[in-house]
Amino acid sequence: MENQDSILLPRIGEAAPEFKAVTTQGPISFPSDYAGKWVILFSHPADFTPVCTSEFMTFASMEDDFRSFNCELVGLSVDGLYSHIAWLRTIKEKIVYKGMKEVEVKFPLIEDITMEVAKKYGMIQPGESNTKAVRAVFFIDPKGIIRAMIYYPLSLGRNFDELKRVIIALQAADSFGVAMPADWRPGDAVIVPPAGSCGVAKDRMEAKEEGMKCYDWFFCTKELSEEKVMNAIKAK
Ligand code: BEZ
Repeated sequence: MENQDSILLPRIGEAAPEFKAVTTQGPISFPSDYAGKWVILFSHPADFTPVCTSEFMTFASMEDDFRSFNCELVGLSVDGLYSHIAWLRTIKEKIVYKGMKEVEVKFPLIEDITMEVAKKYGMIQPGESNTKAVRAVFFIDPKGIIRAMIYYPLSLGRNFDELKRVIIALQAADSFGVAMPADWRPGDAVIVPPAGSCGVAKDRMEAKEEGMKCYDWFFCTKELSEEKVMNAIKAK
């Protein structure tokens, strides 16, 4: 029998669960309001807490950067709307942190007092907390499909270089029909997907296209310049 405490976790490759919610920027219908755009949907444990404040200031200061990759930000916590508004006002009016000041959070922050949305997205993980969302990050593509997700505990703030790297890598993988190796960054060689048969793969070892390097029949890379990557994904 299924454990009553078991939590639903959305899965990569599935449609992002739908919901309607109230946010600091007005009501939203998710993911339909974001059709045609990438979205980073993320949760934080609580307003007026230090790690979350450092993260929100960083998200807000990178919003234009994400938007240049056709990517919108949407935050969520199980706090109410008035708490969200008061916290964001405090951030703007009072907090100076790592050179960031007067930071205005312009992206929507969802109020989820009932935890309805947080539960749909597996953001409440009782081993960590029954009353707060963990730091979840969902990368959702323009068709509303979950393409990647990362979960962090309450005690660890997210790595924003990694969040940006994931958005760029997913878009570049789609644009060029390739995969990205460990620690890939724009400008690094990319993985050429293995061919379907050994015969083809053997040919591939021998007749390589320019910029292609094979380490074995199943492991070939090719050069892909940062300029090509950026031109392809910034144009969208
Ligand atoms: C924080 O953001 O600082 C935080 C929130 C909940 C629990 C622990 C830390």
